[in-house]
Amino acid sequence: MIDRLPKAELHIHIEGSLEPELMFRLAGRNGLKLPYASVEELKAAYRFSNLQEFLDLYYQGMNVLREEEDFFDLTCAYLERVAADNVVHVEVFFDPQAHTGRGVPFGVAVGGILKGLEDGEIRHGITWKLIPNFLRHLPEEDGFRALEAAEPWYDRFAGFGLDSSERGHPPRDFARLFARCRELGFRLCCHAGEEGPPDYVRQALIEIGVDRIDHGNRAMEDMDLVREIAERGVALTSCPLSNLSLKVIDSVGQSPVKRMLDAGLCVTVNSDDPSYFGGYVGDNLKAVADAFDLSKADVVALVKNSFAGSFLDDGEKARRL
Ligand code: HPA
Ligand code: ZN
Repeated sequence: MIDRLPKAELHIHIEGSLEPELMFRLAGRNGLKLPYASVEELKAAYRFSNLQEFLDLYYQGMNVLREEEDFFDLTCAYLERVAADNVVHVEVFFDPQAHTGRGVPFGVAVGGILKGLEDGEIRHGITWKLIPNFLRHLPEEDGFRALEAAEPWYDRFAGFGLDSSERGHPPRDFARLFARCRELGFRLCCHAGEEGPPDYVRQALIEIGVDRIDHGNRAMEDMDLVREIAERGVALTSCPLSNLSLKVIDSVGQSPVKRMLDAGLCVTVNSDDPSYFGGYVGDNLKAVADAFDLSKADVVALVKNSFAGSFLDDGEKARRL
């Protein structure tokens, strides 16, 4: 049943869909040597005890992405894989500062990703939005420089987000940057409450005024905050297999997805970084459906939320819901 439902994915870092086989192929093409002897050895390194351990490997892994064609191949591979899960709409994050910071121009990354998205739309009929994320472990000033570098592509972006190391980097530190993005007409999202406290979710919601909260797990510790999220109709993008891999939860049964649904929140299920966390969006939906023995109505609600919580315009949503 899950396989057949047309679905959207709203929380996917395209760099986190880099499968080990493609990483080796791109390393070879670019004359780079990976610090792993084989695909198996690389996969064996994918054991994390927290977000930072994952991020260290994630930034190292994306080092093979050098040319526009690399970003194109990466994006095509992701879209081909999710087409098999009957994904019909994607809202894709990427990390421009993680590329410009190692000498890969903004235009190389965004050019390859856009070509891949356009190719996937033709080939698989998958519609898309593209959302650059600011790296929160870097200063807000650096984010302003990324926003300036993004200017030639403003009309290709739906919004801006905030990701990377959460602890010690509250959304409030980026309030001016997001206010500028809002002035420019962009939608806003923030990773919040994945490892950080409920107050980071509150800051994202109230001080930044986000349109969507990425993860949001720890919002469930504060019922006033839950009420506020529900009243504002702000969607949450939950990523159960990511949470399990990063030890945010000890079992899928501890995922907040069911409690969020029961609290009347617009919660969606997503993969985050499928290559690193062992599952694409279909696998994530199946994992929560199994863990909670979800009814068909609950599964359908999750999938409907993936469109309701998207940045598609109201007409498009009405057509798909
Ligand atoms: N959290 C924060 N930053 C990220 C993640 C995540 O799960 N994936 C890629 N960047
Ligand atoms: Zn994420």
